[in-house]
Amino acid sequence: MGDLLKIKGGKPLQGQIKAAGAKNAMTKLLVASLLSDKKCTFHNVPNIGDVEITVNLCREIGSEVQWDKKNHTLEIVTHELKTSYVPQRYSGSNRIPILMIGALMGRTDEDIIVPTLGGDMLGSRPVDLHINALQKLGAHIEYRDMKKEGAYLAHAHHGLKGAVINLNYPSVGATENTILAAVRAKGTTLIRNAAIEPEIIDLILFLQKLGANIMVDVDRTICIQHAHQFHEVEHTIMTDRNEVASYAMCAISTKGRVFIEGAEHLQMIAFLNKIREIGGGFTVKPNGIEFFHNGLLKGGVHIETDVHPGFMTDWQQPFVVLLTQTSGCSIIHETVYENRFGYAATLKEMGADIELFTQCLGGKTCRFAACNHHHSLVVKGPSPLHAKEIAIPDLRAGFAYVMAALLAPEVSTISNVDFLDRGYEDLVGKLTALGADITRVVQPKKHPEKTKTALHHLLAEKSLTPV
Ligand code: EPZ
Repeated sequence: MGDLLKIKGGKPLQGQIKAAGAKNAMTKLLVASLLSDKKCTFHNVPNIGDVEITVNLCREIGSEVQWDKKNHTLEIVTHELKTSYVPQRYSGSNRIPILMIGALMGRTDEDIIVPTLGGDMLGSRPVDLHINALQKLGAHIEYRDMKKEGAYLAHAHHGLKGAVINLNYPSVGATENTILAAVRAKGTTLIRNAAIEPEIIDLILFLQKLGANIMVDVDRTICIQHAHQFHEVEHTIMTDRNEVASYAMCAISTKGRVFIEGAEHLQMIAFLNKIREIGGGFTVKPNGIEFFHNGLLKGGVHIETDVHPGFMTDWQQPFVVLLTQTSGCSIIHETVYENRFGYAATLKEMGADIELFTQCLGGKTCRFAACNHHHSLVVKGPSPLHAKEIAIPDLRAGFAYVMAALLAPEVSTISNVDFLDRGYEDLVGKLTALGADITRVVQPKKHPEKTKTALHHLLAEKSLTPV
């Protein structure tokens, strides 16, 4: 059984915290470092579970890693690859392993084996855009379906060659995977309709230092040229805009005031607009942003989640909790994932007035219009929230529950805390520093037994040893 959080809500959060480095940048940069045999030094590295998992994965692939957690710095160098097999135990943990195909294909002639993907259950989460793009660059990729699990087998025995890739949706992961492969592909690659999230720009900044030539055009086209030479890199990870928004919403909803050191204005534009619309307060300062309750919070907003520069899908869950504290009726239309309102049922049990709809509410139709998924939501407030025993289903829903518990005056017990550890550094320490009444109840750890799977047999067939 995992650790538990006990939260007694009802107190305004007050004080100052420092934002951590971005999970969705750091994990990708570790994978990107595998492109070359040069040393990469990172600063502002977040101490979170997803970085830990990715570091362990890189070590298995052959990287030497020195991680100074106290100073948030990490050095990684991969002189040579020990294996190009992603062990099965990593495949269920997050969305990083599939990026190994793009990063490793230009570095090895061996098959790259990536067992079926994990990550939060937010919908079907296919990888067709990754696979199609990599195939266009010359990769040979096949999926082997086995009884208990499957795996992607990829190689580029004849080398990779630049191509024009049209993504039919600006997927973050598919854009990253294609960029990684294209850095070592001969000639020039154009990704049309690419994702341009700030974390992707951070990846591009890192790759430019590493030796790549990459240009982002105004029309979502990213142009990557074959890199011939690599260099040592020193890079500071961008601030985690999800973490900033999460604590900002806690400050405003609990009627408090919190200064978040390191919060970057540029990454938060869409979020700040919505905070202002509901009457929340913020002041942008030279070294961060202060968020505060500014009198009555009003609803009546319409939010459409979208790719950057739109309102992030990862902000949507805590924002719904914030909207339960506003007066009036608001609409959220989730256009990135078809199934990201699973947490709403628990919020309703805590006292929220929420209704789900399969239609696209708010004017614009999205690609889920005719699919019968509950991807629009109406929330009415203000509603007092009450404590509950809650099991976390995924990272951002998990933070929404923590926030709801901070608003409920009784004690809530939250389980599956591992999900929060994946993306929020020192959550209990930061909330405690802001005056929250929160305790982590540590439970004894279970050690899962290693079992032989169909994948082991496939590896045996290919004379590969799982690490
Ligand atoms: C990244 O996921 C983030 N994860 C997510 O954050 C974030 O919500 C998402 O981007 C959108 O911003 C990481 O960076 C590790 P996508 P990713 O590919 O790359 C569809 C968090 O809480 N799609 O942009 O997996 C897909 O089904 C996490 O930190 C295809 O159809 O997201 C989804 O509907 C959760 N085919 C949409 O695109 C594909 O091949 C967006 O997915 C790939 C994606």
